[in-house]
Amino acid sequence: MPAKVVVIGSLNMDLVTRAPRLPRGGETLIGQSFATVSGGKGANQAVAAARLGAQVSMVGCVGSDAYGEALRGALLAEQIDCRAVSTVEDSSGVALIVVDDNSQNAIVIVAGANGALTPEVIDRFDAVLQAADVIICQLEVPDATVGHALKRGRELGKTVILNPAPASRPLPADWYAAIDYLIPNESEASALSGLPVDSLSSAETAAARLIAMGAGKVIITLGSQGSLFADGTRFEHFPAAKVKAVDTTAAGDTFVGGFAAALAAGKSEADAIRFGQVAAALSVTRAGAQPSIPTLSDVQAFKAP
Ligand code: ATP
Ligand code: RIB
Repeated sequence: MPAKVVVIGSLNMDLVTRAPRLPRGGETLIGQSFATVSGGKGANQAVAAARLGAQVSMVGCVGSDAYGEALRGALLAEQIDCRAVSTVEDSSGVALIVVDDNSQNAIVIVAGANGALTPEVIDRFDAVLQAADVIICQLEVPDATVGHALKRGRELGKTVILNPAPASRPLPADWYAAIDYLIPNESEASALSGLPVDSLSSAETAAARLIAMGAGKVIITLGSQGSLFADGTRFEHFPAAKVKAVDTTAAGDTFVGGFAAALAAGKSEADAIRFGQVAAALSVTRAGAQPSIPTLSDVQAFKAP
């Protein structure tokens, strides 16, 4: 039986333009392309875990519109169990994304139906959480729901992962004890810890602070520099694979989904990090969120240049 990963989080339709650079305030740029792509941090992590070997259930909400149908269809096409994806009377979540020629992005999200994922909905699908080996949450659904899901995951004895994205402020202090793996990027690690994170040594200091705040283990993702693992006794830096980046959208999601799938399948933490990083490196070589996420055979076939 493949290991079971449950993702509790957002589904967004990504409206993606490519432009030579990101616009400044008040400026209009001529874009080079436009695409409508299935995304949302929760859904992307679910797709990553599924393509990378796990059996996945998604808990979330879509709107009663064409985007909602498409977002659900994209997950079903990956054999993801969507019985806990509810359709609500609202617009589906959307993300307005600009990607520039340096593969950097700027994103504005509108939660829409994702705002209807309440703690009561989580309780309604408690059986889904009970069946999980690993539970993953992010921050594109209401905070009360994330806190509730983390704590329920802990109560059930599951491996609980929080990808605190997007984050611009500290997390509620009482969440930390429920988190086995906290996986922020550099800016999120800085927002959570209140410390600057712009180098390996500052990432170590921030990771130590986050563990002191109560997180079990911390993995700070560092873009093309890879990631930093900390467990309170030691730090380990995992360099990223060298690739030509085209679009980094969903690199973090691919890492989180791949790490979770590998951990659930019984790999060691170090091997799960290496596996997630190869998957994430492959994702940055392709455009879009879900279309960029590699399969298990893509990762197995990857040869470092
Ligand atoms: P995003 O918000 O763009 O999805 P993120 O900011 O959450 O990403 P990053 O730290 O940028 O997350 O990237 C996550 C992981 O993806 C990194 O730890 C690394 O393994 C891989 N990665 C990202 N960018 C690159 C790159 N240019 N080359 C190789 N690997 C990369
Ligand atoms: O992490 C990438 C995702 O962030 C995009 O798919 C977009 O929907 C935003 O939520």
